[in-house]
Amino acid sequence: MSEPMLQVAGLRAGYAEATVIRGLDLAVGAGEVVVLIGPNGHGKTTLLRAISGIIRPAAGQVLLGGKDVTGWPAERIATGGLVHVPQGDGLFAEMTVEENLLMGAFPRSSWRSRRKELAGVYERFPVVAARAAQRGRTLSGGERRLVALGRALMRPSRIMLIDEPSLGLAPVAIDTVYEAIAELKASGATIVLVEENFTHIGGIADAVHVLETGTIVASGPYAELASDPAIVQTYLGSL
Ligand SMILES: Nc1ncnc2c1ncn2[C@@H]1O[C@H](COP(=O)(O)OP(=O)(O)OP(=O)(O)O)[C@@H](O)[C@H]1O
Ligand SMILES: [Mg+2]
Repeated sequence: MSEPMLQVAGLRAGYAEATVIRGLDLAVGAGEVVVLIGPNGHGKTTLLRAISGIIRPAAGQVLLGGKDVTGWPAERIATGGLVHVPQGDGLFAEMTVEENLLMGAFPRSSWRSRRKELAGVYERFPVVAARAAQRGRTLSGGERRLVALGRALMRPSRIMLIDEPSLGLAPVAIDTVYEAIAELKASGATIVLVEENFTHIGGIADAVHVLETGTIVASGPYAELASDPAIVQTYLGSL
């Protein structure tokens, strides 16, 4: 196998109060969509934060494109090609959609390249283009999620970490968000996706890992995990 785009080895991370991620290994190949699934509060978000440098790992390694970025500050890891789409959407309520999108551009990018990235996002997500001048707070939940994805596309990246894009959305909005993610996959994006259940990931997951109490307790192709009654029952609720 060629070098993984992302490799995590023996990772430990958490907060002052507690270690949350307890010795976790993960490899993501270029062009793969890897889904992390697991119950509330077991460390999915914390893992993404530790990978992207928002919190500093206590032990272990994070390699991005084969380069050891462990302990690097988040902005440096971002410059290395990692984009993190956090849980929720983090839009600025009083800024327009376009202004929110521009917040995703590299701070030192030229206006010419910003315009180009904007045009790319609008082409990819016509719903977002139609809302360009609207303020963040006036959007529907699904539209906000699409803007958050669009903002992540404002800079070229090698890997995207996407945290629970379906959270709190109505079913029809979830479908729209997952269509957008399927399109990212089709265009060759490398993605680590966090979800709480199996419902939406069937068409896009190359591999699924179950994260419980800060470590990966089961891994396999989607079809394999989704047909294992013990896994479905214990970790994932009903399909
Ligand atoms: N900023 C923080 N400071 C201290 N503890 C935190 C912080 N953020 C999360 N935790 C704790 O870390 C543990 C893991 O939380 P995390 O948000 O990673 O879980 P999760 O799997 O993403 O859950 P969810 O599905 O609800 O998003 C929880 O016990 C949580 O209370
Ligand atoms: Mg979370």
